[in-house]
Amino acid sequence: MLDEIAEIAEKVKSFELKSNTDLENYKREISGKNGRLNDLFEKFKTVPGDQKKDVGKALNELKILVNEKFGAGLEFVESNSTTKSDVDYTLPGKFLSFGKRHPLNLVNEEVIDIFEKIGFITKEGPEVEDDWHNFSALNFPPDHPARDMQDTFFVNKENNILLRTHTSSVQVRTMMNEKPPIRIISPGRVYRCDSDATHSPVFHQCEGLYIDKNVSFSDLKDVLFYFVRSYFGNDTKVRFRPSYFPFTEPSAEMDIGWTIDGKFKWMEILGCGMVDPNVLKNCGIDPEVYTGYAFGMGIERLTMLRYKISDIRLFYENDLRFINQF
Ligand code: PHE
Repeated sequence: MLDEIAEIAEKVKSFELKSNTDLENYKREISGKNGRLNDLFEKFKTVPGDQKKDVGKALNELKILVNEKFGAGLEFVESNSTTKSDVDYTLPGKFLSFGKRHPLNLVNEEVIDIFEKIGFITKEGPEVEDDWHNFSALNFPPDHPARDMQDTFFVNKENNILLRTHTSSVQVRTMMNEKPPIRIISPGRVYRCDSDATHSPVFHQCEGLYIDKNVSFSDLKDVLFYFVRSYFGNDTKVRFRPSYFPFTEPSAEMDIGWTIDGKFKWMEILGCGMVDPNVLKNCGIDPEVYTGYAFGMGIERLTMLRYKISDIRLFYENDLRFINQF
């Protein structure tokens, strides 16, 4: 065995360790788990007792030699790696591109902020609804023209399960589960069978509801004026037009005065009104004690006005040239 140790010692000395590949070869052949050094330690177990001392000594010397050789090789490779490597450290780094918020999210969050500042609480609800929460509780009679006016997507026509056409369904859910005073906004996705440059089959709304004792139409106007001033600016012109919704009485639509390319225009931005007593009754609230107002606006419409966007479909195409402008 002493011969073999001497032979390997010679071999170790003859190794040139100048690259990572050299180091790997060396490990495989000599110093690694299956290398010859470990073989020798295995064999050492069978060496007769009277030879153990000499062979052991030689083996330990070999081990030191093997490790020193490897250490020196590693040091060489490491200290030369920068000059030998192909990496060009003078190249500019890779830039991480930051994402942008979608304009609809920007506006949605701004609207929520504006109402939360004056005490409205944000409520969400399911997008797949039943007839009661979307229509019946809101005073739409079975054959009311408003039902087909809204042109609904039905999930299951027999059970009247549908995609909600407005987030007023969240108002119904809240009124049925909570006691007044109720002061909520309900932002969310809604669905209608409608599609052109200003209508999308899926779009976003933010509706509001306030129910308490002695709530009046002037409270409603005040809150909406506050909203318009916050969102469109202090000197935005506003007008109310009488309107009709099955769930509010009286009802109104609110327009803002807008100057585009030097021309003044009225633009409708939301529907509103005093909650119909029937709706309060349907939801278990006594209309003799409580009154309330409600309003609803489209987030797409608000975003299009803010950024002067003429086609609603741009919001859903995910074209980065569009999204990156906000
Ligand atoms: N729900 C109505 C719509 O989707 C908006 C609205 C809400 C109108 C509350 C009046 C009061 O068109």
